[in-house]
Amino acid sequence: MSDTSPGPIGIFDSGYGGLTVFRKIERLLPNYDFIYLGDNARAPYGPRGFETIYEYTLQAVQELFSRGCQLVILACNTSSARALRNIQQIDLPKGPEHRRVLGIIRPTTELIGNLSKSKHVGILATEGTVKSESYPIEIAKFFPRLEVSQQACPMWVPLIENGEHESEGADYFVKKYLEQLIEKDPMIDTILLGCTHYPLLLKKINEDLPAMIKIVRQGELVATSLQDYLSRHPELASICSKKGSRQFYTTGDPEIFSNKAKQFIGKEISVDRLVLS
Ligand code: DGL
Repeated sequence: MSDTSPGPIGIFDSGYGGLTVFRKIERLLPNYDFIYLGDNARAPYGPRGFETIYEYTLQAVQELFSRGCQLVILACNTSSARALRNIQQIDLPKGPEHRRVLGIIRPTTELIGNLSKSKHVGILATEGTVKSESYPIEIAKFFPRLEVSQQACPMWVPLIENGEHESEGADYFVKKYLEQLIEKDPMIDTILLGCTHYPLLLKKINEDLPAMIKIVRQGELVATSLQDYLSRHPELASICSKKGSRQFYTTGDPEIFSNKAKQFIGKEISVDRLVLS
């Protein structure tokens, strides 16, 4: 296979969360081929250190390249915050020059300021994303006067990965982090779910949310931004294959993945296991 043979678009997340983005992307770009890879065996990434997140994300990206992808989307804020820059600056230049890896923080930060009337926004994300300060730094480039407060929600991804997000036990932690965020800035009128897992908690989040606050999810923003990116980069679009195929891989248990994936994308899928190293 020559280096520029068209291949599927790779979509990577530490686990299930990226499926909330994948779902929106495939709706907008149904003819494209996709490979989804979830590193469930090593999720959550949120509490892990910078080096580990970089190492794991790079392994996943290399795996997707080896399966023919020319474009990989990090549908994971934690990987986008902790690994994307290194991958783009250190690793991609070593390979064929047409390959691309894109994250999901930038498309969100370009728009978030337009969605708030009070000009006070809140970000709910993993510890890794919060610590990286990626959101405040990137948002300041587009909306320098926007007030940005962040809250890490370390219990949310484990609840979701373990299928406990609809349990009564989850109520306590949903309320806790929302209150902590609003306490930091009572003027917040817009909250971004800055982790692709969090839309699974939306029902509970909405129950605890003051009426004046609206929630922003990333799926649609990222999908629209990818569509726009591909139309501006026809040379990249032409090496993304378009037969409408979907493949799903997990580093965890394929049967569990396939059952849980139903909650995210609303349909049965077949899943294979792979090992990252
Ligand atoms: N879904 C990921 C994100 O968007 C990370 C979840 C995790 O593994 O901690 O940040």
